[in-house]
Amino acid sequence: MGQFSLVVLPGDGIGPEVVAEGIKVLQTVGNKFGHSFNLQYELLGGASIDATGEALTQDNLKKCQNSDAVLMGAVGGPKWDAPQAKVHPEDGILALRKGLGVFANLRPVKMYPVLVNSTNLKPEVVNGVDLIFVRELTGGIYYAQPKKQWTTPEGRMATDSMTYSEQEIERIVRVGFELARSRRKKLASVDKSNVLQSSRLWRQVAIEVSKDYPDVELEHVLVDACSMRLIQNPARFDVLVAENLFGDILTDEASMLAGSMGMLPSASLAGIPRGGVKTLGLYEPIHGSAPKRAGLNMANPIATILSVAMMLRYSFGLIKESQAIETAVEEILQEDYRTYDIMSEGKTKVGTKEMGDLIANKVGG
Ligand code: IPM
Ligand code: MG
Repeated sequence: MGQFSLVVLPGDGIGPEVVAEGIKVLQTVGNKFGHSFNLQYELLGGASIDATGEALTQDNLKKCQNSDAVLMGAVGGPKWDAPQAKVHPEDGILALRKGLGVFANLRPVKMYPVLVNSTNLKPEVVNGVDLIFVRELTGGIYYAQPKKQWTTPEGRMATDSMTYSEQEIERIVRVGFELARSRRKKLASVDKSNVLQSSRLWRQVAIEVSKDYPDVELEHVLVDACSMRLIQNPARFDVLVAENLFGDILTDEASMLAGSMGMLPSASLAGIPRGGVKTLGLYEPIHGSAPKRAGLNMANPIATILSVAMMLRYSFGLIKESQAIETAVEEILQEDYRTYDIMSEGKTKVGTKEMGDLIANKVGG
């Protein structure tokens, strides 16, 4: 019997629809296993800009800091896109990540055998893909100081520089090693150490930390080569660890290995996940707000539902509950139910709510 508090930030576009299904499945887990979840719904992104002028209010950040976990949908949309706008929905996400100190972004990419024909890549390339990206999330170029545009007599200029301390590198690399230890014991550290000083420090620290993990095989991969190998032979990767921007780019690429972004969850943690230690986390599907699909009961809720499974594991320490969701998702896919993004001939097409119901019933059954 556990009691957990959770802030829910549905956000914009399809965010509210997929989050509703994630919560549906969470409540089913609560009923079945006897846990209670105290939910607080708040605004983030464009919805918050419209209501308050800010993408994330201080008040809402405090509520998130005081909870056990945060579930987020997606933010953004054409309404708030103008480059000259003073505040963007994405500012809310960056402030939330920094304010919660969730430095470790875990993005698992798993090819479900039943979806092997739903990707743009050849089945033999994606077959067996089961990797996890560990992306540094609260440092690097995203949080550059200074970060600005200015005008000179010769014209306009702009800067964002990439800065890392050894402490920031060490803790994220440790997350990579800890996860590798619990999996196939292979860690690929991504950098650009042939050019960048921040990457040279990254590589040195990775080598130093590797002394504590003699059971894990460490390899260094340059970021450009990594982007190539991800589509050349993705099944060779187990855990990858990368700085913020490299991780941002590579995880979009890697998401295509699983057929659809609609399948991929993520967890952003404030601590190193080792031996069942519970840590504050921010959980969200990796896809965006897809404004064109909003309100149509089309979006695939599986990424959000699997994010809830990650929340149960990392923030609440509820492992069998987490596995119950993961198994239910696999079974529903095996039973040939598909949302539009993973639809193929002969399968049964369902909407967002129906997919949520199917998975929830499986978990509860
Ligand atoms: C992501 C997104 C965000 C990022 C945007 C929306 C700020 O692309 O979570 O990968 O760049 O981190
Ligand atoms: Mg991204």
